[in-house]
Amino acid sequence: MDRNSPIGVFDSGIGGLTVAREIMRQMPKERIIYFGDTARLPYGSKSQDTVLRYSRQIIRFLMTKEVKAIVIACNTASAYALETVERELDIPIIGVIRAGARTAVHSTRNGKIGVIGTEGTISSGIYTDVMRQMRPDIEVTVKACPLFVPLVEEGLLHDTVTDEIASRYLSVLKGRFIDTLVLGCTHYPLIRSTLGRIMGDEVTLVNPAYETAIELKALLEEKDLACQGAEEDGGNEKYQFYVSDLAEKFTAFATSILPNEVKETRKIHVEGY
Ligand code: DGL
Repeated sequence: MDRNSPIGVFDSGIGGLTVAREIMRQMPKERIIYFGDTARLPYGSKSQDTVLRYSRQIIRFLMTKEVKAIVIACNTASAYALETVERELDIPIIGVIRAGARTAVHSTRNGKIGVIGTEGTISSGIYTDVMRQMRPDIEVTVKACPLFVPLVEEGLLHDTVTDEIASRYLSVLKGRFIDTLVLGCTHYPLIRSTLGRIMGDEVTLVNPAYETAIELKALLEEKDLACQGAEEDGGNEKYQFYVSDLAEKFTAFATSILPNEVKETRKIHVEGY
């Protein structure tokens, strides 16, 4: 495997860009192929079988780009598909859940952690399981927030509608005296300021993207796969973006949150993989 090959990163939509952004920041030499499954979003309300099938198709697409490693930048797909697909692949693949759980367990002072995510991630119980393996006495309160993903995809990042819905969702967590809240969906860091305001300063918000990038970096170094070349500029070919629908909308959004302008997003027929 060539160390200068790109890293594949995927999500159901734009949420995984929060992870891609962190990889770009922490590993500026690495090339990235990003895929957002915008035609089939949301994943959070779909069954495990469906999310696994989608994930396999995307991984087959990414393999055609000769990626050296894959990051499942989606909590739902990490919860439902990672364990299976990692047995099927001969390149390294990581999700976002373990990194997020580890950060939360290290950050809590009172042992009370909240987790918000899609219906799929929350009903899988995976965050609670992983955190209890790390520290059995941890108290976890979970809450599915299914309306956050469409609000983010619509760009309503700073909007009274988002404030109102977030207040309702988070009210259950506010009564549980949590001191740490895991943003267990890669879309949620995009509404972090709203969530932080509602939860208050005493609650630490954990964005698993940061730790996921650290984990990826360590993994690439361990496998001798870290890019050795000189750091290129953020040109279009260094970071390539693919979606299954609405490429222009994706391009505009990606440009608004990534450090460099995204000049082009290509639409592909992912069902063909
Ligand atoms: N961003 C995804 C996650 O982290 C999924 C959003 C969705 O498609 O429901 O779970």
